[in-house]
Amino acid sequence: MADYKKLFPLLIKNPDLHYLDSGATTLKPQVVLDKIMEYYTEYSANIHRGLYPMSERATMEYENVRKKVATFINTKHESEVVFTSGTTASLNLVSRGWGEDNILEGDEVVISEMEHHSNLVPWQELCKRKGAILRYWLVEDFQLVMADMETYIGPKTKLIALTQVSNVLGTVNPIEEIVERARKINPKICIVIDGAQAVGHFKVDIQELNVDFYAFSAHKMYGPTGVGVLYAKASRQLQMSPENFGGGMIKEVHKEGASWAIGPEKFEAGTPPIAQVIGLGAAVDFLSGIGMETVASHEKELIDYAIGKLEKYSNIRVLGKKNNRIGVFSVVFNDEDMGTAHDWSSILGSKFNVCVRAGHHCAMPLHNLMGLPSGTLRASLGIYSTKEDIDAFVEGLIEVRKIFEETDNG
Ligand code: ALA
Repeated sequence: MADYKKLFPLLIKNPDLHYLDSGATTLKPQVVLDKIMEYYTEYSANIHRGLYPMSERATMEYENVRKKVATFINTKHESEVVFTSGTTASLNLVSRGWGEDNILEGDEVVISEMEHHSNLVPWQELCKRKGAILRYWLVEDFQLVMADMETYIGPKTKLIALTQVSNVLGTVNPIEEIVERARKINPKICIVIDGAQAVGHFKVDIQELNVDFYAFSAHKMYGPTGVGVLYAKASRQLQMSPENFGGGMIKEVHKEGASWAIGPEKFEAGTPPIAQVIGLGAAVDFLSGIGMETVASHEKELIDYAIGKLEKYSNIRVLGKKNNRIGVFSVVFNDEDMGTAHDWSSILGSKFNVCVRAGHHCAMPLHNLMGLPSGTLRASLGIYSTKEDIDAFVEGLIEVRKIFEETDNG
C-alpha cells in the first residue's frame, strides 16, 4: 500500500499515533496548510470588495475554488456551489431557506432512522413550525429497507433528506436508485443529501445523483474546519430566501427595503471564511491528485482487512454490512459488564495511542434502534490509515477487554 502518512505533518511528528477518527475530522496534508499560509502571507485581503491587486488575487483564488468544487462534484453550473460553515450549516440553510417557504401544513418530509442529528433535528424543527409530518424510513440489518420505499414516499411527500453514508455504520445508501424511484412517484419532490461522510471517500457526481441539494464539510476531506459546501440546484436557489442578511448578498438596498443578489452570493452574507475556502481548494486538488478511485480502493482494502480480522473474535460485534460501505465501522462487546464505549476509547487513547470515537456519534435514534443507547466505539479511516493502525486498534481492543474481564472476575 502507498504510504500517505508522510504527506501529513501531524503524523510525521507523531509516528506512533494511530489516528482512526477521520469520520469526525481528517488530518490535514502539508499542501493544504501551505495554501492557507500562502493566503495569510501573500494576499490576505478581503474579497469582492477591493479593486487593488491583492484583493483581486484573493477574490480570484476564492472564486477559483468554486470552480474546482463544481468540477470535483460535477455540478452543471459553478454558481450552484454555495460556501457555508459546514454540513450542519448547509442543511440548516436548506431547512430554513427552502423549507420555510415551500413546506406547508400537512406536507410530508421523509428522513431515515440512520441520520446524523444534523440531518434530523432541522427537519424535526421545520415540521413542528409548519405543521408538516415527519416520517422515518426504517433501517434493518444496517441498511434502508428499500422494499418499503413506496410506502413512505407519496404525492404528499415534499422533501426527502437522507445521508449518502451512515457515519456510524459506513453503509452507502443507493441514492441514484432512491432518486429515480422517488421522482417517478412525485417528480417535484425535493431531494436533500447529507454527503459529509461521502465526498472524501469516493467519487460523488451531482448530475448523476440528480439531487436538489447536497451538503458536505471541508474538514472531513482533508481541508480546514469552518467551511463547507451546499450544492443548491439553480432552479431551487430561485425558490429560496436568504438566511443571513448583510453585506455581499444584496442587489440594492434602499431605506424602504432591499433586494437580493442572484446566485450563491445571496447565501454568503458578510466576510466569508476566505482562508478556509482557499484551503478547501487545496484539499480538492489533493484528492484529485491521488484520484478518487485510488482513495476508495485504499479504503476498501483496509476495511476488508479490518472486518476480516474482527470477525475472528466472537465476543466483538461489528455493526454494519460487508459490502456497499466505506471505512467507518462501529463495534461493541457481545456481553455485558465490559465497561462502556467511553471507557474503551479512553483506554485505547491513553494506553495504546489509538484515537477512536465513543458514544452515539450524533445518531441517537439509530443507537436506540440497535438497542445500544449508551453508544458504540467507532473507528474511521482516512487515506493515511494503514493495516498497522488497524492491528493496533484490534490488539488494543482485545487488551481493553482483558482489563474488564479481570476486573469482572476480581
Ligand atoms: N459528524 C462527525 C462524526 O460523525 C463529527 O463524527
